Amino acid sequence: MAPQLTGVPGSGAAAGGAAAVKPQFHHYHHRLPPRHHHSSPASLLSKLAFWSVCSLSLLLAFLLLSPAAPAPRAAPESPRRSLHASPSSTTSWGGAAWEKKVRASARIRRSGGHSVLVTGAAGFVGCHAAAALRRRGDGVLGLDNFNDYYDTALKRGRAALLARSGVYVVHGDIADAELLAKLFDVVPFTHVLHLAAQAGVRHALVDPMSYVRANVAGLVALLEAARAANPQPAVVWASSSSVYGLNSHVPFSEHDRTDRPASLYAATKKAGEEIAHVYNHIYGLSLTALRFFTVYGPWGRPDMAYFFFTKDILAGRPITIYESAGGGSHQTTISRDFTYVDDIVKGCVAALDTAGRSTGSGGKKRGTAPFRTYNLGNTSPVPVTQLVDLLEKLLKVKAVRKVVKMPRNGDVPYTHANVSLAQRELGYRPSTDLQTGLKKFVRWYLEYYHPELAEKHKLRTSSNGKGSRGRNGSSSSAR
Ligand SMILES: NC(=O)c1ccc[n+]([C@@H]2O[C@H](COP(=O)([O-])OP(=O)(O)OC[C@H]3O[C@@H](n4cnc5c(N)ncnc54)[C@H](O)[C@@H]3O)[C@@H](O)[C@H]2O)c1
Repeated sequence: MAPQLTGVPGSGAAAGGAAAVKPQFHHYHHRLPPRHHHSSPASLLSKLAFWSVCSLSLLLAFLLLSPAAPAPRAAPESPRRSLHASPSSTTSWGGAAWEKKVRASARIRRSGGHSVLVTGAAGFVGCHAAAALRRRGDGVLGLDNFNDYYDTALKRGRAALLARSGVYVVHGDIADAELLAKLFDVVPFTHVLHLAAQAGVRHALVDPMSYVRANVAGLVALLEAARAANPQPAVVWASSSSVYGLNSHVPFSEHDRTDRPASLYAATKKAGEEIAHVYNHIYGLSLTALRFFTVYGPWGRPDMAYFFFTKDILAGRPITIYESAGGGSHQTTISRDFTYVDDIVKGCVAALDTAGRSTGSGGKKRGTAPFRTYNLGNTSPVPVTQLVDLLEKLLKVKAVRKVVKMPRNGDVPYTHANVSLAQRELGYRPSTDLQTGLKKFVRWYLEYYHPELAEKHKLRTSSNGKGSRGRNGSSSSAR
């Protein structure tokens, strides 16, 4: 970025130019006649000529010493570095080799296929979705800033997995307008699957601004790039079941209230839904929000209960289970509509396939474009105590349970999706129950973190002879 700054008027070089002519002003100032002095017409004429010459030479000197006007920005020939708010998001991009990689990754390999920019591709859902799209022949380019909200080795592992199937994950930030413009310039994406976000409810108590940066400012930057792109892509993005907040009407339907969020995370997702409406309304962007309900599965997120319960149970550490005031005077443990990642991915893919076109071009709307919102859940909430029972069975270890009253940290006591709209319009039918899905998660977890235990549990995949080899030689698909 530095070379561009040097060309901007008012920068160091220009200031240096002004400094160079300044002493001359002082010099002539000392030679000015006193104000009360009366002069003859001839002397006035000669003074006028003298000052004209001086002014012209000063102007000439200024022009010669000033830096040239900034040239229009050319495409970077060598990699660029951008630094964004997140400490771990120093990125490097650009150059002919980089563009070639981007194009190859986004190249469509089936007739009628899409070219999809998947943001958050090194994330949990993103890596599964990118792999699924790639498997069926869509062109897929990933974008992720690999931030350190949780173990970056896991993100790098997912990106390595995608690389093996031909998907390149660009290391960059969704708030980097210049990078986004470049990506849309290099590839005429038909779709964006926007999954990059600051996820997790509780972390907002520690770093609230990270939610605003990624989920509000980042979303706006992405939508700005999408509306300016030609052609405009259709955008499908992850909202969250958390937008239902204090809603008590169950199961949660898309028509229920979403104006009482219980966490900052939920508030930023709700803000995202409103912002998306603006871009649909003004610019004709086709927009689909998917409200995911507690997604779990292999390559999952370490900040989620099913993941850290597994870790703590294996380590013999106590796990904390929240209970909330239920109906009447009795206590109930919190329940979640746990949804297996493959079902979520099917919903994402169906949303991409059914997304109507954006109608804008050159930043102007040419007609109404689709604006849709769907719940993607499993439709069968399970109490967290039952989740722990299942984990104990699969891990063959008894959990040390500590049941405490739910603190006011943003969690809600209960989630339950009504998915009839997604079923009707997307053909969405979740098909993995919690026991089956958790078994797949535990198998992956043991193979990735404890290959020796996986052997003992006889959970190692053997059907295709391609079982995972642990952290560094992870399994061959994102399943
Ligand atoms: N997993 C769930 O249970 C769940 C539930 C509801 C909604 N969601 C939403 O689904 C999406 C995917 O969630 P996930 O579980 O895969 O989370 P994740 O944290 O694993 O994935 C998000 C990815 O986005 C990246 N990212 C964050 N900020 C970025 C930025 N500014 N620029 C570029 N990349 C950035 C992160 O590095 C991460 O790899 C998120 O939008 C999340 O809010 C997830």
